[in-house]
Amino acid sequence: MSRLTEKRIILGVTGGIAAYKACDLTRQLIRAGACVRVVMTRAATSFVAPLTFQALSGNQVHLDLLDTEEESAMGHIRLARWADLILVAPATADFMARLRAGSAGELLDAVCLAAEVPVALAPAMNRAMWYNPATQENAAILAERRVHLLGPDKGMQACGESGFGRMMEPIELCQALEAIFTEKTLAGCSVLVSAGPTRESLDPVRYLTNRSSGKMGYALAQAAINAGAKVTLVSGPVLLEPPKEAIVVKVETAADMFNSVIGLASGHDIYIGTAAVADYTPAQVEEGKIKKHDEALTILLNRTRDILSAVAGLPSRPFTVGFAAETGHLEAHAKEKLESKGLDMIAANWVGQPEGGFDRDENALWVCWPGGEKYLPMASKQNIAIQLIELISENYSAQKNTT
Ligand code: PMT
Repeated sequence: MSRLTEKRIILGVTGGIAAYKACDLTRQLIRAGACVRVVMTRAATSFVAPLTFQALSGNQVHLDLLDTEEESAMGHIRLARWADLILVAPATADFMARLRAGSAGELLDAVCLAAEVPVALAPAMNRAMWYNPATQENAAILAERRVHLLGPDKGMQACGESGFGRMMEPIELCQALEAIFTEKTLAGCSVLVSAGPTRESLDPVRYLTNRSSGKMGYALAQAAINAGAKVTLVSGPVLLEPPKEAIVVKVETAADMFNSVIGLASGHDIYIGTAAVADYTPAQVEEGKIKKHDEALTILLNRTRDILSAVAGLPSRPFTVGFAAETGHLEAHAKEKLESKGLDMIAANWVGQPEGGFDRDENALWVCWPGGEKYLPMASKQNIAIQLIELISENYSAQKNTT
């Protein structure tokens, strides 16, 4: 279940070219289970017709502060009280200035002024307008007043210039809202996550690897950030964009990953070993490309060092969580790994099945710790990550309270 499920969100749309992206944003919020009411400024209606938002949100679009029918019942106050959160996307420079000044001349301004729930802005404007000292000062003051500023992003702009000022993408905005709604159970904690595959070179052009995409580990890093943790992500080669707030250490081989994780682990409260680390590496890396002289080729492989066991054996060890990727006897193998590696918790998943595991968007986990277990049924990796982080937070706090 997404953190946005059944959340009541007012989506404020102001008059900028990025208003068209608010259509997709509405769809994505609805898909995540939120109930959305759209409030448009007069200028916004020049970019997108209210009917579009009405169709996408399934609710009447609110436009006028002086709508006599609505205002006889104090529409702007009612709207502000209805919402769990107000997101203004796009938020123009003009809207930010009005919000800073406490203006109530438009319905959206009045709703924001009357709000007692979190207000988030996704600024979108030309890069020079964003960097103008007036806008920067408005942004700083709004942030001081605990308005959440989401973005802007850097990139090509509608005006043809390039720089900071692009509205964050709808998917990223949904993730940011999820973070706002997440209880900060890991506030003040540091979490080290390993993710992705490793690559073991055979020669300058070939390597041994596995099917890990990094999706599970990256989702865990994001979920830990949303829960208030400072996150370091040690990542094997993947094609994913890491969470913006994470410190990222990129590695290639199992030995690189071992060195990075061991170097960092004692400085963290929690280690989560999601990476699919190679168990074996070629005994020798050929200097030149291996030629196909013979019918068969034998390659000698040596065992790699086990990162999880080494972390769990550190004198000042973090709360250590391992993963187990299994094709049979899932619970028995996971329990054996929990004990033999001296872990605090293990999350086991089936691999090689039609659903879940390597390189899929969804996963299911059987989580086990000394004295407890829980099954997390098949769901998106983002969702599974939220649930696993909750379990980790509970067990980590319980352990801390008993020591
Ligand atoms: O990346 P995705 O495509 O999203 O896929 C997610 C995943 C399937 C890779 C992930 O959910 C998962 O199962 N990760 C662990 C994969 C694995 O290597 O499992 P294992 O059972 O072989 O290893 C057990 C544990 O030992 C793992 O935590 C692993 O990180 C760790 N290990 C293994 C070898 C080694 N040399 N050092 C280690 O620390």
